Amino acid sequence: MRKICTVVGARPQFIKLAVVSRVLRKDFQEVLIHTGQHYDYNMSDVFFKEMDIPEPDYNLGVSGGTHGQMTGRMIIQLEEVLLQERPDMLLVFGDTNSTMAGALAAVKLGIPICHVEAGNRLGTLKNPEEANRVVTDRIAALHLVCTPSGVEFLNREGVFSSVHLVGDPMYDAFCYYSARLDGTELRKITNLDGQPVTLPERFYYMTSHRQENTDQDEKLDQIFQAMEALDLPTVYPVHPRNQARAARLCREQGYRKILLTLPVGYRTSISLVNRSEKIVTDSGGLQREAFFARKPCVTIYDYVSWPETMAGRCNQLAKPEKEDILAKLNTPVSFSPSYQPFGDGHAAEKTVDAIKRFFEGKGNVSE
Ligand code: UD1
Ligand code: UDP
Repeated sequence: MRKICTVVGARPQFIKLAVVSRVLRKDFQEVLIHTGQHYDYNMSDVFFKEMDIPEPDYNLGVSGGTHGQMTGRMIIQLEEVLLQERPDMLLVFGDTNSTMAGALAAVKLGIPICHVEAGNRLGTLKNPEEANRVVTDRIAALHLVCTPSGVEFLNREGVFSSVHLVGDPMYDAFCYYSARLDGTELRKITNLDGQPVTLPERFYYMTSHRQENTDQDEKLDQIFQAMEALDLPTVYPVHPRNQARAARLCREQGYRKILLTLPVGYRTSISLVNRSEKIVTDSGGLQREAFFARKPCVTIYDYVSWPETMAGRCNQLAKPEKEDILAKLNTPVSFSPSYQPFGDGHAAEKTVDAIKRFFEGKGNVSE
């Protein structure tokens, strides 16, 4: 059996891993390496437990610091593991520092790289993850793409034969786990002090963790002012990076409609997606899930990350400004019932098929 080392480190990667690993392990020996980038129980362990993801074979415990420090420390440790394991391939997901560190460690050892969620582009290096995407795609041997726009971006960069449109594993996960919800997952929501909270009957679901929106009081407060002005309460599970700031702003400004909670597990999150009225986010994953669930979404960001979601104004960009967010939330949207550009819910199977064909020599390795 061929050996594949999979490198993950951040919350959205655990979700993609859950669906891909289940299929991959039928035909390959998978060695799972967790860089440690996300490490709190509710940013990491909860996903492994609730989504039946096998325990990582390695946890490198690398987190925090500047992007350069984090990436550098990851590469050093990943190289050691890869030298020990000598895999036939390295598998990475998405665009985090863990993704690029894995890819750089592998390419230097001559290990072919399979990049899942390849071809995603924002078109600006101002976005901290863009360099991770561009570098990983440049050195990957196999590009597995979620949507047609990803294929176009890669083609424009001269990458053709190694590109396979397989669909979005996030859509696989959404379909698989949405069918297995029973409401108990909503009882796990707690406030920032860890006390259980009662979910309002009707609500908006918000997440915001991008450093561009949350590292300054002014921007986060503009977002809060918009949510406070709405007719219904907002449920906001807060990423650890901005919990203290969010709690302080809500306390100082006396906001009453914003329910701050600890980060929730994936099943709880998609349950919130399915039950919410509308979604406000800066998350790449959540804006797609809003689209999967046919919920209007406002993405607080300057750049389009998933062009397909913008059809019919289902997903609209807004600046971190109260009036712009409210205007976008009030704009009518139209979902086309038959438009599903994220695949058929079997991206994981297609991913593993593409890997098998790669080893059979039919995969067209890019140079
Ligand atoms: C990272 C990814 C981003 C992705 C996000 C998913 C990069 C460059 N960015 O951003 O693309 O959208 O993950 O959630 O890789 N922290 C904790 N506990 C944790 C995790 C993080 O306290 O479990 C703290 C870290 O110590 C750090 C801050 O949160 O100070 C930011 O974490 P980091 O992993 O650097 O970036 P994210 O914002 O999570
Ligand atoms: N999510 C979660 N718990 C939360 C917030 C989000 O499980 O408290 C899920 C969300 O439903 C989506 C994924 O995390 O599946 C998105 O990850 P994140 O926003 O951290 O990263 P991004 O997608 O922006 O890279």
